[in-house]
Amino acid sequence: MKRTKQQLQVIFQNFAERECRGKSPLYYQLAQAVAQEPYLLELAKHARARQPAPNLFFGAVHYLLLLDSSQRLAQHYPSICKEVSKEIPLALFLDFCKKKEAEIIHLLRDRIVQTNAINRTAYLMPIASSIFEDSSDLNLIDIGCSSGLNLNFDQYQYHYKGHGIIGEGNVRISTDILEGTLPPFSAIVNVNQKIGIDQNPLDLEIAENANWLKALIWPDLLERFERMEAAIRLAKTSSLSLLKASQISDFREVIDSIPQAEPLLVYHTHVLYQFSKTERLAFRALIDEIGVKRDLLYLAVEGFSIFDEILPLPKGVQIVASQYHGGIKTVRHFGQTDGHATWIRWK
Ligand SMILES: C[S@@+](CC[C@H](N)C(=O)[O-])C[C@H]1O[C@@H](n2cnc3c(N)ncnc32)[C@H](O)[C@@H]1O
Repeated sequence: MKRTKQQLQVIFQNFAERECRGKSPLYYQLAQAVAQEPYLLELAKHARARQPAPNLFFGAVHYLLLLDSSQRLAQHYPSICKEVSKEIPLALFLDFCKKKEAEIIHLLRDRIVQTNAINRTAYLMPIASSIFEDSSDLNLIDIGCSSGLNLNFDQYQYHYKGHGIIGEGNVRISTDILEGTLPPFSAIVNVNQKIGIDQNPLDLEIAENANWLKALIWPDLLERFERMEAAIRLAKTSSLSLLKASQISDFREVIDSIPQAEPLLVYHTHVLYQFSKTERLAFRALIDEIGVKRDLLYLAVEGFSIFDEILPLPKGVQIVASQYHGGIKTVRHFGQTDGHATWIRWK
């Protein structure tokens, strides 16, 4: 069901206060302004139901500016002009939205928020490298992969502030270790197959998809924007297999395609909250069933409530691995992080 203007007003105000404050001064100011602007709220009503309207709406405008940087409004987007900007003037924003109304409505109806947060590899890489240290050629299956950029975690360079740099390459991952130490390993694991599954995989060979991914990044988070551009360039030369699928039976088929004797990591990051409880339980039951027949590591990084049925965990995003070896399952809580892995507390 479409949201009302009044509901959207509250949604934009909450977005400003809860998500942007202290992180994105530009969207903080803009979201507050949009919440008071009837025409823009009316326009945002076209966002698909169950999608976060502010992310989708601001993403649509950012997308159109990335396509045409000659627009005056683009000069207020650091992602485009590469300069610091103090504010996005509402009058200019409003003007642009009126001019591009039809294109914005089309994007709001057509697209979904599918941010691929590459910094999340800050925990994927060390856990995989530590557990599979003695194996060669690890196979990866990323459930809910978006554009599959996290499958390239073996190709990135990791800056663990105060704890050194690991790896090479132009994609710079950076995080704070607030507690504990990295799981031990001597080298980044070698990866064989990289398979991503998504209900709507974003093929980066299609320029619009790459632009949409960039557009979802908040324009004043320049480091994140540049990381995304570098990761997209690398993905175009990598061998990622992205599959369109969303059912438990599809997941089973893909997992079964990996020979039993080969090492396998199945993971998802920030995906299971989009499953119904029934789907979530069925997915876990599938992994347990497969784990009786073959060895694998299943890594889940999700908000704490997603783990309610298996482990009582404190609030926040939790990193939980289930290792299946010789038919025996061992669950390990690796630690806690934030949504974009800007910090990690290792257990
Ligand atoms: C918030 S994004 C996270 C993307 C990626 N895992 C990351 O951490 O950057 C969630 C992704 O899960 C996908 N997704 C949600 N439900 C799904 C399902 N039942 N089957 C496959 N993909 C699904 C969405 O399409 C979206 O790309």
